[in-house]
Amino acid sequence: MHRLPKINYHDIERIIEFDFVRATEAAALNSLRWLGRGEKEKADAAACDAMRGMFDLMNICGEVVIGEGIKDDAPGIFKGEQLGTWLPGAPAFDIAIDPIDGTTNISKGAPNSISCIAAASPEEGVKVALRDVPSFYMSKLAYGPRVIEYTKKRGDSLHIDAPIAETLAIVARAADKRVQDVVVVMLDRPRHKDIVDQIRECGASLRMIGDGDIAAAMAPALPDNDVDLYMGIGGSPEAVLAAAGIKCLGGDMQCKMWPRDEKERKILIDEGYEKDLEKIYSADDLANGKNIIFCATGISDSALLRGVKTRASGIAETHSILMRAKSRTVRFIRAQHNLKEKTIRLRSDQREHRI
Ligand code: FBP
Repeated sequence: MHRLPKINYHDIERIIEFDFVRATEAAALNSLRWLGRGEKEKADAAACDAMRGMFDLMNICGEVVIGEGIKDDAPGIFKGEQLGTWLPGAPAFDIAIDPIDGTTNISKGAPNSISCIAAASPEEGVKVALRDVPSFYMSKLAYGPRVIEYTKKRGDSLHIDAPIAETLAIVARAADKRVQDVVVVMLDRPRHKDIVDQIRECGASLRMIGDGDIAAAMAPALPDNDVDLYMGIGGSPEAVLAAAGIKCLGGDMQCKMWPRDEKERKILIDEGYEKDLEKIYSADDLANGKNIIFCATGISDSALLRGVKTRASGIAETHSILMRAKSRTVRFIRAQHNLKEKTIRLRSDQREHRI
């Protein structure tokens, strides 16, 4: 077989990064028609079809190392799937993907859903760039660069296991706010009752969200955002995607595996993860190295991105973020798509479709 010469790319992410954002844009645009229709599986399937269709045009050897959460048997892009053309010589990428984070939100027409991808090309000294955490959930604490700068200067630090009052006091000082003005975002779940009670006792300002904790965990690291802290228990794949984004933004995250019950704890122990149950994973432990790209497109409005807006004269406007860990360039991309002209390639029939 004729083989193309292997090209030693320097900084391959710089060449290919915009193609990734096309994939999240396509997923957002193709799932839009399911907003508010009560059909989360159909929305997810539409996003996956468009993403796969876009990847089919990308000259990469992409392997999904972290797929969607395995909740509800959702249709999805799962671990092990190959994405891209896989032509000989094409650059390799490990991919973590969530075609829609917040499928329930889409089905309700509610805010807080995004489409996102993290991708990592091979890097010397990095064995596992995007860590596939074996537990279903992780306990998470995410914060922005201001907290990091402050704690470095003061020689103290945040700790995921520290009492909540202590954490809130440090974050308040870092943000130069009163504790009552510290904004904490958390998924609205019964499992958070104790944490919620403690936050309320301290008087901090809590914002509960229905779903979608990738955008929520990244919010404190965004410039010009009034969220100070993300806290609580959410999906492990979502933790890794958030970690990739947070890292590019100069924030950090502490996460611990959070087995749902004794059965899951026992399985994890039997599989050899007993020590890891106590481990605190930083953003860098979950998304390791510098060759990392993160991109996301808003579907419905979130703290991270505006959702897709349809305008008069057949224009759909998408809002995306595209970042690289190496350069720490943060691009906010507002794109106008002419719906009379634009087509999206779907994997299902390998053809172009109007949106
Ligand atoms: P889906 O889009 O896959 O439904 O995930 C939404 C989400 O809210 C994630 O953002 C979060 O990490 C996870 O679900 C929390 O899981 P659960 O709904 O089981 O509490």
